[in-house]
Amino acid sequence: MPGLIPDNLLEDILNRVDIVELISGFIPLKRSGRNFKACCPFHQEKTASFMVSPDRQIYHCFGCGESGNAFKFLMKYERLEFPEAVEFLASRAGVELPRFERQNDAAAGLTTQLYRINELAADFYEGILNSNEGIRAKNYLLKRGITLETIKNFKLGFAPERWDGLINHLRQKEINLSLIEKAGLILAKDSGGYYDRFRNRIIFPIFDIKSRPIGFGARVLDDSLPKYVNSPETPVYTKGKNLYGLNFAKDSIRDSDCAVIVEGYLDFIVPFQSGIKNIAASQGTALTTDQARLLKRYTHDVVVLFDGDSAGELAALRSLDIFIEEEMNVRVAGLPKGVDPDSYVRIHGAQEFKTKIEKAQSLFDYKLAVLKGRFDCRDVQGKVKISASMLETINKIKNAVLRSEYIKKLSQELDVNEGALLQEVSKIKPERFPSGITVNAVKKISNISPVEKLLIKLMLEESELISRIREHLDPQDFKDEHASRIVSLMFDLADQGKEIGPHVLINHFAEDDVSRLVCESMFMPESPSEEHKEKVIVDCIKRIKEERVRLKKQVLHDQIKVAQGLGDEEKLNRLIEEFHALIKKR
Ligand code: CTP
Ligand code: MN
Repeated sequence: MPGLIPDNLLEDILNRVDIVELISGFIPLKRSGRNFKACCPFHQEKTASFMVSPDRQIYHCFGCGESGNAFKFLMKYERLEFPEAVEFLASRAGVELPRFERQNDAAAGLTTQLYRINELAADFYEGILNSNEGIRAKNYLLKRGITLETIKNFKLGFAPERWDGLINHLRQKEINLSLIEKAGLILAKDSGGYYDRFRNRIIFPIFDIKSRPIGFGARVLDDSLPKYVNSPETPVYTKGKNLYGLNFAKDSIRDSDCAVIVEGYLDFIVPFQSGIKNIAASQGTALTTDQARLLKRYTHDVVVLFDGDSAGELAALRSLDIFIEEEMNVRVAGLPKGVDPDSYVRIHGAQEFKTKIEKAQSLFDYKLAVLKGRFDCRDVQGKVKISASMLETINKIKNAVLRSEYIKKLSQELDVNEGALLQEVSKIKPERFPSGITVNAVKKISNISPVEKLLIKLMLEESELISRIREHLDPQDFKDEHASRIVSLMFDLADQGKEIGPHVLINHFAEDDVSRLVCESMFMPESPSEEHKEKVIVDCIKRIKEERVRLKKQVLHDQIKVAQGLGDEEKLNRLIEEFHALIKKR
């Protein structure tokens, strides 16, 4: 990955950290021969196809194709940008990074610019809230029991009742309009020009885990609709990948080893203000796998607060299966009808709220109680309905012992034969892509020829082979474009007398596809024995050459047809000559 940090420094860092140690700090790894394996953290799977190689210092998932070195893992898993991942590992490895000049705006990446624009916008809204124009909004917040200190802490603001308040402010700072639009802060008018997305609304800046503003939620001051307007998805903001308030709560969540999950902005703010600091808000949508994984970095124990008796309660409960799939411990606390965490704390106080959390029931118990309230559990039809719904959740439990315990418990609760429940649960198809994971997230495995992969692997394993193979093949002889670029780089590095491993090699490429190809090659099972190696290499070279000729013939053949069609005699003769020369050479 080209950038400001010198290659040799990156190499130094990579050689000092151990990828197995790094990854096992995030997910449990099991030894498997020379490698380590785990269930892939980047896609949903039941059998482990995520491999980590201590010898090569790379990882690769045979299920979804995700692969790379230690930097790449951190970028994907912790959602860091490349320089951040470098910084993280450098400090871990005790490597000192040179100080860089601050990047100027033009050179900074799009995401960096979006963070900056969001920051300017948050400052603007905050300023308005504290000005004359924000008096109504401030009074509204104070009336809802939100203190001035809290307003400041969470950087709450107010979008003025104007069409161009923010635009004008940012234009004065010479910020590019199309960037402001990319940040989701303004909208294009049909008649040309732009207008502010947020107007006459209280602003809740949404921060990422590193407290960078990534988006905004905006509430009306009265009963008008829609109650909230939110930032659209932008390059820095994806709703389902973020939890409101987690940046403020993460330390407390880690320390208390428990996270309280609520829905709304105010359901987060009011309890937090009264001392419940291990809390975060889903922002009103069903929880996603990404959010569960985000939480899992800090705790495996989650308590979800539910507005009881609501119509969508069962559907909402179903979304909690996400935590079970992530092997987390999820409990549920129901609130009285029409009461949300914000009003509960204001009515009953923080202490009772804490008690509520402590008394939360397991998802199993809570869901069973809800179902029993809905269906008659003494009636056969009722038993069928309840068991079907419960088994859906139980089916998501990965641990077989735990699952059978729950089935036993359910059989007792419903007075149904355990064998019958086991039979029913076995009928439920394992969901390959549960909600929150799009099929898109699972990439196709590359279909590059195994011969090309094998040669790349052999050259990376034994640098002496490079000069030999080079006598016979050019980088362009590799049909796959990525393979060709990798080989070309290997040749260049060999010229410079450099010998580098696959984990360092992939630093040179920004694209996932290239690093995937390197990692996939390195994890190929077939490595010829010493005695066969010579023959295998000769064979690979021959096959690549043949393929090259075959392709060339095909191209010539097509060109000849075109020339014939055009009646271009001169060109036709030249092409036919070339075609014959190609055949003769073989
Ligand atoms: N929400 C939203 N858009 C809406 C309504 C709700 O994005 N039109 C999200 C917001 O994140 C909101 C959460 O869903 O905080 C919960 O919605 P709701 O309970 O209606 O709002 P509260 O946050 O409780 O607001 P208030 O107490 O001020 O009515
Ligand atoms: Mn509310």
